Amino acid sequence: MPTRYLVTSGLPYSNGRLHVGHIAGAYLPADTYVRYLRAAGRDVRFICGSDDNGVAIEISARQQNKTPQEVSTHFNQRQKADFAGLRIDFDVYGGTHQPGYWDIHRALSQDFFKRIYERGFFTKRRTRQLFDPQINRFLPDRYVEGTCYHPDCRKPGAHGDQCSSCGRLIDALLLIEPKSVITGGPTEVRETTHWYLRLNDFEQPLRDWLNTKQGIWRPSVLNFALGQIKQGLPERSMTRDIEWGIPVPLDDPDAAGKVLFVWFDAPIGYVSFTAALCEQRGERREDYQKWWCDPDTSIVHFIGEDNTVFHTLIWPAMLMAEQQHKLPAHVVANNYLNFKIGGGEEEKISKSRTPQESPVWIEEYLKRYDPDALRYYLTAIAPEAARTFFDPAHFIQRNNSELCDVFGNFVNRPLTFVARYFDNKVPDASAATDVDRALVARGAAALEKVGACIEGFRFKAGLEELMSFASACNEYFQIRAPWSSRKTNMADCAASIGTSVHAVHHLAILAAPFMPGAAERIVAMLGLDAPALRWQPPAPPATGRALGQAQILFTKLEGEEL
Ligand code: MF3
Ligand code: ZN
Repeated sequence: MPTRYLVTSGLPYSNGRLHVGHIAGAYLPADTYVRYLRAAGRDVRFICGSDDNGVAIEISARQQNKTPQEVSTHFNQRQKADFAGLRIDFDVYGGTHQPGYWDIHRALSQDFFKRIYERGFFTKRRTRQLFDPQINRFLPDRYVEGTCYHPDCRKPGAHGDQCSSCGRLIDALLLIEPKSVITGGPTEVRETTHWYLRLNDFEQPLRDWLNTKQGIWRPSVLNFALGQIKQGLPERSMTRDIEWGIPVPLDDPDAAGKVLFVWFDAPIGYVSFTAALCEQRGERREDYQKWWCDPDTSIVHFIGEDNTVFHTLIWPAMLMAEQQHKLPAHVVANNYLNFKIGGGEEEKISKSRTPQESPVWIEEYLKRYDPDALRYYLTAIAPEAARTFFDPAHFIQRNNSELCDVFGNFVNRPLTFVARYFDNKVPDASAATDVDRALVARGAAALEKVGACIEGFRFKAGLEELMSFASACNEYFQIRAPWSSRKTNMADCAASIGTSVHAVHHLAILAAPFMPGAAERIVAMLGLDAPALRWQPPAPPATGRALGQAQILFTKLEGEEL
């Protein structure tokens, strides 16, 4: 078992609001994982923040007649609030160009670049690049759009760096009918200078490293990365001709006015935010190395599928080139979440390029509904192995028939029974039967199973285990029928209610990584507090101990509401 865990979620671009697709991809599973690790007593830091540099933010600012700083700070704050509302609790939410983070991020990114430069893995190259003559500027990656040239794709809407349909890397000069994103006009080819990371030098080391992950990582992620290596990894320019970003740290007149490619500095944000967090906690900046350079730390990156190339190939190659920080132990990539309305077409909503397409904004959701209900549904339909879709009718149905009727129902029944017939005190369960003991054993087994699922990044399966225990609890309650034993055999009634209260405690622990709010509400109803949520079979409730006040755990939703 690793000594400590450093968990990251892909840094969202700070040019738009968050929608359910973002959350299902890189954030909710990471938060669930971190909550579980903490409950199991592990040492964890959970890192995120916004991806502020580069072209995407520059384009948004230009469209809104604002500065990139204004746009990125606005959305950094918005996203931070949305995450907090969903109870996605990062230890630090930084931003690669935000006050409090920018200085340290720029310094670490420039150090990274210089180390790779000194170790000789960059090639300086005079190259031809697309240029927009109407505004007299070069058009890097996302400023260009055209048709994908991969023969089996050929879809429009491919960017200069990556195709948004097939996900493969793109050489902008090969795009079919490239157009400037800024003016919409045609482009010219002109000469400029850039520094290229020789990814091809890392094909064999990357292949060897990826092969050590066989049987551990999701096959889709490994196959994609190994497939890219098989096709050959082209060198990638790590500098850009734009203004908004981190200056290229070289004493070379050709570097003047150029910045680092945003995908070079963004993953370093994971490192620089960790360093900023150390400072925020009164440690030294260098203490971040405990999390990034120590072989006893397990580094886990949660991402959406469109980030796979960068996290399984380019970022690891950067790390191999600079040699001071550790490679990730896991890269957990989720597929896209699509959206479906009223039996209509599924639409893609997780595309980072057009966040406006999303119909379910977290900000709007949180104004009306329980974050736990969304966390439940997004885990239940998690796109772990294939794309899935968000369907509002389905969301309501699962909230009502599973969260309310199964989970909430079982929590409610024994607790209201205790309030009504046992003076709200835990009844004496000393007359417990085999059926009672079997339920408690099943709860302990569920803790083991759900824990194994979460550690294996199978969150949906973990949630299903939790719900199958909740169903077993309901069946148990039906069989034991305390409402009738109350009239005939009080000791037996007390045993079944005491056991049920114990089972409710199991449910709270099991639910906590998935639905932290619900878990806390249950703990309060049980008259306990947060330490009661440690990931271990809970002790039976002490006879005579007073419970808190029973309340409705989940609210039913009406069809029209969404
Ligand atoms: N901003 C990127 C996106 O939304 C993700 C960056 S992840 C990091 O697709 F590795 F660069 F941090
Ligand atoms: Zn394509």
